Amino acid sequence: MGKTYKIAVLPGDGTGPEVVAEGRKALNAAETKFGFKLEMTDFDFGGERYLRTGEILPETAADDLRRFDAIFLGAIGHPGVKPGILEKGILLRLRFELDQYINLRPVRLFPGVDTPLKNKGPEQINYVVVRENTGGIYTGTGGISMKGTPHEVAVQSMVYNRFQVERCLRYAFDYARKFGKKAQGIADVNTLALVGKTNVLTYVFDLWERAFHEIGEKEYPDVKREYYHVDATCMYMVKSPEWFDVLVTSNMFGDIITDLGAETQGGMGIAAGGNINPGGVSMFEPIGGSAPKYTGQNIINPLAAICAGGMMLETLGELEAARAIENAVRDVTATKIKSLSAGKMGYSTSQVGDLVAERV
Ligand code: IPM
Ligand code: MN
Repeated sequence: MGKTYKIAVLPGDGTGPEVVAEGRKALNAAETKFGFKLEMTDFDFGGERYLRTGEILPETAADDLRRFDAIFLGAIGHPGVKPGILEKGILLRLRFELDQYINLRPVRLFPGVDTPLKNKGPEQINYVVVRENTGGIYTGTGGISMKGTPHEVAVQSMVYNRFQVERCLRYAFDYARKFGKKAQGIADVNTLALVGKTNVLTYVFDLWERAFHEIGEKEYPDVKREYYHVDATCMYMVKSPEWFDVLVTSNMFGDIITDLGAETQGGMGIAAGGNINPGGVSMFEPIGGSAPKYTGQNIINPLAAICAGGMMLETLGELEAARAIENAVRDVTATKIKSLSAGKMGYSTSQVGDLVAERV
């Protein structure tokens, strides 16, 4: 008998519960096949609960979640709640309180999936973004004074300390060494590229750049180092995505470039991410959001949630099972699904879940 993992499931709002249900199917199939056990406990955090109780997140939420091995999240965001409240009060708060300092976002084009990039295929669009996930502008350091007067001033600072930068870089170097293109057998070297803005943000990215080269030279001489400005990165993500292997960047830049990346891999229907605390509890999510207009119609694409489940298994150490889920998704995109868009897949949400589960 394999290991047992305790999983907290947060289906959340909108189409979250529908895609989480399909993610569960794939996970259950993997359990049976590979002989481990997932003990799942549901939490009702989200917009519905907030509107009902007035509480965004119970005080004890982070402590309760700390008792689990991983968290599987659907989507947070409700049309009846002002933007920002749930995002900050649930998603960002959990990232901070659980110290999930890495946001891992693969950008992979699966076979059979349309990309807006001309003449690019799965071979060219195959890289991973390691986004720093608890620092930078997202800490909310700053404020607004003289509000409502012609002299009002607003400040929101990009704050990084050496510790935050180093731990993120070490994770990225490790990841590149273990899962980079050499490790995949498709290049002679694993490459980590730092994405920054050293020409303008001369304090913050000076710190990142120095730490990057110091750590790389001393601890990861086998990993090739590159540097790109963030604006140029956007250009190359469109023009020459095959240049990239593993990218590491700050919180805000990572947020922005991974939406661009998601679009190049076929859109939000397939893009998954992990909020990772390598020594603690990590949280896996489809990065697409709650898509309220598709709620309850059984037409939303569940593949991103299914892929998030696969990433969760990878992080838990069930590598074979993770690979089985990814391969099942690849087969479904290659041979079954017409389009990744909601309502245009040629199958319903639950049928897509069944197709993947059968193949696992
Ligand atoms: C993401 C989202 C969040 C972020 C929002 C919803 C707070 O855009 O996960 O990328 O900015 O990190
Ligand atoms: Mn985002």
